[in-house]
Amino acid sequence: MPIGFLKGKGPSGFGYRSTAEQVTEGLNLAGKTYLVTGSNSGLGTEAVRVLGLRGARVLATARSEDKALEACKGFSGEIIPIALDLSEPASVRAAVAKVKDLGHSIDGIIANAGIMALPTRELKHGYEMQFFTNHIGHFILVTGLLDRLAADGRVVALSSAAHKGTYSEGVRLDDLSAEKGYNNWQAYGQSKLCNLLFARHLAKRLPKGQTAYSVHPGVINTNLGRHMNRVFQGILNTVSPLVLKSIPQGAATEVYVATHPAAAAQGQGLYWADCNVETPSKHGQNDALAAALWDKSEEIVAGLP
Ligand SMILES: NC(=O)c1ccc[n+]([C@@H]2O[C@H](COP(=O)([O-])OP(=O)(O)OC[C@H]3O[C@@H](n4cnc5c(N)ncnc54)[C@H](OP(=O)(O)O)[C@@H]3O)[C@@H](O)[C@H]2O)c1
Repeated sequence: MPIGFLKGKGPSGFGYRSTAEQVTEGLNLAGKTYLVTGSNSGLGTEAVRVLGLRGARVLATARSEDKALEACKGFSGEIIPIALDLSEPASVRAAVAKVKDLGHSIDGIIANAGIMALPTRELKHGYEMQFFTNHIGHFILVTGLLDRLAADGRVVALSSAAHKGTYSEGVRLDDLSAEKGYNNWQAYGQSKLCNLLFARHLAKRLPKGQTAYSVHPGVINTNLGRHMNRVFQGILNTVSPLVLKSIPQGAATEVYVATHPAAAAQGQGLYWADCNVETPSKHGQNDALAAALWDKSEEIVAGLP
């Protein structure tokens, strides 16, 4: 397998080097509404910018409306800021209520926000923080908005190739508080596997016409690396223009999968990378695990304040 930046275009006609602007060229998204989480940084900001550029209305979430407004200042389209803290169920429910009050039918939800590799075990409402923020927060948000999803609406969950680095059992359904042991990268990988399995199972539950996908965006130097050590960050800053994707390239797959007519023709619940369908890990193809994660997530959400 060639290293990323040497890879050519795939069957979609796009590939590793395609940018979000390139994959949406010629699309008119006027009249369409998308919700993007994590709009104030990295891939989320670029996704909002390009969706707006193509004429869409974008519900741009960040921890505060001011953060979303500041990051998306000057963008085209209609950008509506929504306050959302994924680690606080009350905040997620308030965001769902606000979106419903706005009354728009939603053409796509891009569950983009995320945290990575917290150095020490942190808990939120009794659950490991990355699992809770990356998966449970989005689970509450997306399931809360399904009745507003357009008849041909799409849900796009940001996973990662890091889903392959999860714990050996895939998702530790019996230890989601990481009491038996915590490893920062495995915990991140587990949360990204949860994002992937969420989309895979959601796709089975959606009515015909609606779709759900997961995405590996590539490796991009964003604020996601805030918990890495400084030496590593310094090296990354130096080499990233040479060996990593740029942010416009990193946002391409999520925007392509959320908007492009050709993407929806590819089938349900698929995992994408470089704007093309890719095969996930064995755990990522485990439908029984996906179903068990869904049931466990419902149980967890039912017990939250
Ligand atoms: N960059 C990569 O190489 C890479 C690779 C594979 C997958 N991904 C995935 O791509 C997605 C976007 O990552 P990125 O690189 O753009 O990272 P980023 O620049 O760090 O952006 C992450 C976004 O998530 C938000 N967020 C974090 N915790 C939140 C919370 N509790 N409530 C609400 N929002 C929260 C952040 O808001 P604050 O700024 O307020 O914290 C920020 O807007 C993530 O899901 C990540 O796992 C990225």
